[in-house]
Amino acid sequence: MTQPAFPAIIEGSGDLAAFLTANKQDVDAALANAGALLFRGFDVGDPQAFDAAVEGYGEPGFTYEDSLSNAVRTNVTPRVFTANEAPPSTEIFLHHEMAQTPLYPSKLFFYCEIAPDSGGATPLCRSDWVLAELEKHAPGFVTRAEKEGVRYTNVMPGCDDAGSGQGRSWRSTLSVSTREEAEARLTVLGYSWEWQTDDSLRATTPALPAIRTISDGRRTFFNQLIAAFRGWADSRNDPNRAITFGDGSPITAGDMAPAIAVADELTEDLAWQAGDVALVDNFLVMHGRRPFSGKRRVLASLIA
Ligand code: FE2
Repeated sequence: MTQPAFPAIIEGSGDLAAFLTANKQDVDAALANAGALLFRGFDVGDPQAFDAAVEGYGEPGFTYEDSLSNAVRTNVTPRVFTANEAPPSTEIFLHHEMAQTPLYPSKLFFYCEIAPDSGGATPLCRSDWVLAELEKHAPGFVTRAEKEGVRYTNVMPGCDDAGSGQGRSWRSTLSVSTREEAEARLTVLGYSWEWQTDDSLRATTPALPAIRTISDGRRTFFNQLIAAFRGWADSRNDPNRAITFGDGSPITAGDMAPAIAVADELTEDLAWQAGDVALVDNFLVMHGRRPFSGKRRVLASLIA
């Protein structure tokens, strides 16, 4: 079977909002086929035009405030926010958006307002291809992750820490102002937790699915394991404590090595040009962010 071009590039000109409205069905068919689309050459000059394009696509948004995302972000327009405020030198490893929580968007729009001088590509990786390879190379790991699910542990600061890729405060993450409210929200979500002496909060998710079957029957490596294992390192977080199987036993470096190797092998870098818009199926494709130098502004908008 020949694999589709990935990401598929749709070149055009003029108003992207009008294009997306007029071609919604074809765009969705192309997205289901490729997993990620790059719209290049259209007239998307600023975040307002990007917001209009997302609106033109016509599906409801998934808001940052409602999410349990770890990343510090800032709203730019009602539907558009900064992708992640982590410093340029920080690599954000492959992940499905918010797959470390029970609440996640189905699709992601990205928009390059300012392309970086060097680096800063968005790596994209087909998760169904990753899973198919892993089933060959690490069948025991796949079986166990599927059977037990996986848990994520993250230590959230009391106040936003923009110096970290997962620096969103527990107050903001949980949309609460007091510890009592935080505990009530965590109880509803099925998390366990432990308060730390510096007002940070160590929270562990319930067992979440590590593999997802999407609507057409394809199975994907839908989780946050690679990003958590490779990237959840800051003054509060130790990646070796970030992920476990559903029974609480650690997922080790040895467990993760095949997944990381296979995903790296299958990754394609999207090198941004100013005005580019990408649409990513969050159930089918993982994304990340390469380190960069110079000014880079890539904005995001999430579909519920
Ligand atoms: Fe992300």
